[in-house]
Amino acid sequence: MHILITGAAGMVGRKLAERLLNDGRIGQREITKLTLHDIIAPDTQPTENTSIRPIVGDLSDRSVVERLVAEKPDIVVHLAAIVSGEAESDFEKGYGTNFDGIRYLLEALRRQHYQPRVVYASSIAVYGTPFPEPIPDDFHLTPLTSYGTQKAVGELLLNDFTRRGFFDGIGLRLPTICVRPGKANKAASGFFSNIIREPLKGEEAVLPVAETVRHWHASPRAAVGFFMHAIGMDLEPVGPRRCLTMPGVAATVGEQIEALRNVAGDKAVALIRRQPDPVVAGIVSGWPTAFEARRARDLGFTADADFQAIVRTHIEDEHGGRAPIMD
Ligand SMILES: NC(=O)c1ccc[n+]([C@@H]2O[C@H](COP(=O)([O-])OP(=O)(O)OC[C@H]3O[C@@H](n4cnc5c(N)ncnc54)[C@H](O)[C@@H]3O)[C@@H](O)[C@H]2O)c1
Repeated sequence: MHILITGAAGMVGRKLAERLLNDGRIGQREITKLTLHDIIAPDTQPTENTSIRPIVGDLSDRSVVERLVAEKPDIVVHLAAIVSGEAESDFEKGYGTNFDGIRYLLEALRRQHYQPRVVYASSIAVYGTPFPEPIPDDFHLTPLTSYGTQKAVGELLLNDFTRRGFFDGIGLRLPTICVRPGKANKAASGFFSNIIREPLKGEEAVLPVAETVRHWHASPRAAVGFFMHAIGMDLEPVGPRRCLTMPGVAATVGEQIEALRNVAGDKAVALIRRQPDPVVAGIVSGWPTAFEARRARDLGFTADADFQAIVRTHIEDEHGGRAPIMD
């Protein structure tokens, strides 16, 4: 089995590639090749059973996209994207990757005339206020950002190309992935991860919003689990509405902090510095807080048990089971 991952040097892409290489198979089928594509070179290494074909290039360049599909990968996992903050500040770059990029990719797959499976990373940003709480699966998509609009357009294309029989698509609306490993990034949602990740390292983190702010989270490990499930599952029961809101954990910032305290103690919590930022608070006030995600659960997608489990997963995956602050 040959799997193509776009955005393979990104956070989810790297972790998904590692998991695929570790497992070595999907059900009974051996994974023989990964094509790993990104605009920056992915550093994932091959294994004895699985070769790696790296392709570095811009998804908004049609010639790059033609190369991606030339060998007719059995599974295409489309992760490459300009994330929310940048898609808002750089209109052309956002539409170039998140709109032109997916259209070129789906169109190139159509012209290859073979019906692969396509798994698409969408986002809960396809929803905009006002919305009910929790948001049911059949709620309309009214994005209020360019990023959310681009993801919603991708969902429509995926549905239509699947209906036309060009490929078998499934879209996963991911919760905010928390705790995001690595350095703090500039995303408005970054503080949800920062207030857990930095204290665990013994470093200070800034909290720009009130503790009552509630949001929808999944760990990177759970996100990889969603993609693994989507790659291997029977798509027949999904029906014509091919995009599903993934299950997650609804938690307030206060509950996040208590989870950190329970797992890592008061010393960690003391490193959170409250510094209200009205701009961030304003952005976050328009974000969804909880979802029913019934369809996805019924189809076998599973999330983290609670926010403490998210903190523990981060410590296991990024600190080998014990964070520096716990010493
Ligand atoms: N992380 C989250 O909280 C979250 C939430 C909802 C949806 N998603 C979606 O999940 C996917 C993966 O997220 P992530 O956190 O790994 O993001 P990421 O930013 O870590 O990775 C995205 C990758 O796409 C690559 N990329 C960007 N533009 C490109 C282009 N023009 N051509 C080729 N590659 C390009 C980047 O270099 C990067 O490595 C994205 O589609 C994202 O929109 C993420």
